[in-house]
Amino acid sequence: MEKVIDENKQGTSLQLEQKQHNTKKLFIESYGCQMNFSDSEIVASILSNEGYNTTDKIEEADLVLVNTCSIRDKAEQTVRKRLDQYNRYKQNKPNMKVGVLGCMAERLKNQFLEEEKIVDMVVGPDAYKDLPNLLKEVEEGRDAINVILSKEETYGDIAPVRLQSNGVTAFVSIMRGCDNMCTFCVVPFTRGRERSRDPQSIITEIKDLYEKGFKEVTLLGQNVDSYLWYGGGLKKDFSKATEMQKATAVDFAQLLEQCATAFPKMRFRFSTSNPQDMHEEVLHVIAKYHNVCKYIHLPVQSGSTRILKEMNRQHTREEYMQLIDKVYQIIPDCSISQDMITGFPTETEKDHQDTLSLMEYARYDFGYMFAYSERPGTLAARKLEDDVPEEIKKRRLSEVIEMQNKIGLERTKRFLGKTVEVLIEKTSKRSEEEWAGRNSQNITVVFPKDNYKVGDFVEVKVTDCTSATLQGKATGYSSMQS
Ligand code: SAH
Ligand code: F3S
Repeated sequence: MEKVIDENKQGTSLQLEQKQHNTKKLFIESYGCQMNFSDSEIVASILSNEGYNTTDKIEEADLVLVNTCSIRDKAEQTVRKRLDQYNRYKQNKPNMKVGVLGCMAERLKNQFLEEEKIVDMVVGPDAYKDLPNLLKEVEEGRDAINVILSKEETYGDIAPVRLQSNGVTAFVSIMRGCDNMCTFCVVPFTRGRERSRDPQSIITEIKDLYEKGFKEVTLLGQNVDSYLWYGGGLKKDFSKATEMQKATAVDFAQLLEQCATAFPKMRFRFSTSNPQDMHEEVLHVIAKYHNVCKYIHLPVQSGSTRILKEMNRQHTREEYMQLIDKVYQIIPDCSISQDMITGFPTETEKDHQDTLSLMEYARYDFGYMFAYSERPGTLAARKLEDDVPEEIKKRRLSEVIEMQNKIGLERTKRFLGKTVEVLIEKTSKRSEEEWAGRNSQNITVVFPKDNYKVGDFVEVKVTDCTSATLQGKATGYSSMQS
């Protein structure tokens, strides 16, 4: 996923004022998860106070930053190719500085500076507030690095500069890090321990978005169901909290409910849920509030209990199935999506069949599917041999994708003839004459523009569908329209 980020035209007046005086240009690119895109908005905000405005033209940049992903080897290779390209620009513009941010910075640390000498600055995900100091080092001709992981940092006090924004939907980070230690995953190493952000600062950020006309917020975290604010830092230290802190602690269900009630004219989504941490209360909040979208991204990774155990996922196939039952029981019109990994070490044909049958059981609307990629330093890399041949991983992956396409089509068909509520986000890719938006279940809906505009909530009667998209005709504004 490659994206060039542009400056949001809707900054606050304060930001605009600062920007008018800014003379330097920042080109910032993000790869990987939504959290990285959200972090880049924090970085842009910090640097706007240091004299930098963003640009989408790399040729005119004084500073080039790339926010990187380490989740699979391919993600790192993509970034490496980009770094080569930056260095070619640098040959024509020696004063241009290049910095690596995010998970690759954290994973590879000073390797970029010492062995490879391809960048000027290396900054890990918890060190963005140190950017002003690091830039000073770089301006004085020294390499700069900060990859210290923090127990407290949530950037809750920084108002992000919205990048590449449609002015309608935004991401708001509610927590950082992950304590789950799935054996295949590099995230706990690159993003550190789990910590939650003060709910007050979350509500303040959403209020600011609301006042700027935004209509939908996605609450972001590696594991949102584990959100817990008690006034302390690390999640794992909750047992040490005072009685007062315990009594006033806010969990994810409460946070979601606070958001839904404080902003009844905004829609809320969240990502990502982990089956082992998902509580029934969250399902009840989703069911209770119209403005909480009926959609859960609920990665399972495998349908085999044996493989789940090897992955250190804290649930069995059967427990996951019970959770799926509960979701459909409490929220009958809910859509569910998955993440799946094929060819995890020791995966047999039988394990793979278990994955396919679990997919049929869960009736996922869509999913994100990957062949296992061994990541250095993870528990799986240290303890298990990457023993499933590449062609078998790939074959299983295509079977999993085929299964998802089949179920996806069956699932989208359930909307045929029904009327769904859509928030208009942008012009459809297919036609200038049509709008595109999503329904509550996170399915893209395309329909003729008529007199509606971006940011409107409309009712759309569905007349046609593919495995991933609905087609229809707007019949009027929905009750969410202000
Ligand atoms: N909880 C996180 C998960 C981040 S990783 C979230 O917010 O989504 C996203 C997905 O990448 C995982 O769910 C998993 O399916 C996949 N993934 C992670 N490590 C992987 C690896 N080593 N090989 C292949 N896929 C991997
Ligand atoms: Fe990774 Fe598992 Fe956390 S997939 S981000 S260690 S929940």
